[in-house]
Amino acid sequence: MHQDVKKIIVSGKEIEARSKELAKEIETHYKDKDAPLLVALLKGSIPFLAELIKHFEIDVEYDFMDVSSYEGTESIGDVRILKDLDQSIKGLNILLVEDIVDTGRTVHEVTKTLMNKGAQEVKVVSLLDKPSRRLVDVEADFVGFEIPNEFVIGFGLDFNEKYRQLGYVGVLKDELYQ
Ligand code: IMP
Repeated sequence: MHQDVKKIIVSGKEIEARSKELAKEIETHYKDKDAPLLVALLKGSIPFLAELIKHFEIDVEYDFMDVSSYEGTESIGDVRILKDLDQSIKGLNILLVEDIVDTGRTVHEVTKTLMNKGAQEVKVVSLLDKPSRRLVDVEADFVGFEIPNEFVIGFGLDFNEKYRQLGYVGVLKDELYQ
């Protein structure tokens, strides 16, 4: 375990096993539909995307978006697109891949953006879900793990850009969050 980590919340083995199950659930959803284009949000969702796609039997393609939230006059906030998709998504089924749904703002705004771009359907898969922090009424359709209200790092999630490389999800020692 990394020296800065206080405890592991979800191990790499658990993530692998759950990703396998999620892939099956997702495949069931698309059984009678066109396979989805996976849209992964940079940078946090990359390790989860890599884990998840290994378990698909259907052919899937993926693309990336990078967004940053900014505080507008609306209390709900908004997102700014830093990197847009490489292709048109008109008429496509989109599976948005997220690392964590926290307040729900990102998923809410990006889903809206993808629908405005002409997506046929937008579903969301998130490795983690922190329902106690929700400010916007939005749910991921497929969730890896529900976690308590703690700031977590690892498996793509960062604290000041660090710890994304860890192969598990954990909590840092208290003094590091000061
Ligand atoms: P939301 O828009 O509030 O749902 O937040 C989504 C984004 O906030 C995630 O994609 C993460 O980048 C970041 N985030 C939320 N909670 C955590 C956490 O516990 N650790 C690291 N990043 C987090």
